[in-house]
Amino acid sequence: MPKTYRCHLFWCSHERDDDTKPSCARRGSWDIGTELKKAMRERGLRDQVAVTKSGCLGQCSVGPAMLVYPEGVWYSVPTLEDALEILDKHLEKGEIVERLVIRD
Ligand code: FES
Repeated sequence: MPKTYRCHLFWCSHERDDDTKPSCARRGSWDIGTELKKAMRERGLRDQVAVTKSGCLGQCSVGPAMLVYPEGVWYSVPTLEDALEILDKHLEKGEIVERLVIRD
């Protein structure tokens, strides 16, 4: 049976072959997502939180993009420090980091 997590973060790892449209990988999402997952494991959250890379999440213009369930909150995460703030507040305590939320 698949494991159930308290929350699940998806980070976009998509990279386009051309520069005509932005992509998260070209804005550093691989380093940010990889370090975020490492930090999550170091904090002993592996059984509670999942951090998973994804394809394009459809938020390319404001990427690197992340999405956290079960709340369905979209984030624009330009730096590792921003990702670690999401880990500190949202993934550990359930507090949404309003300043990074992608709004319509
Ligand atoms: S390339 Fe990351 S959201 Fe589209």
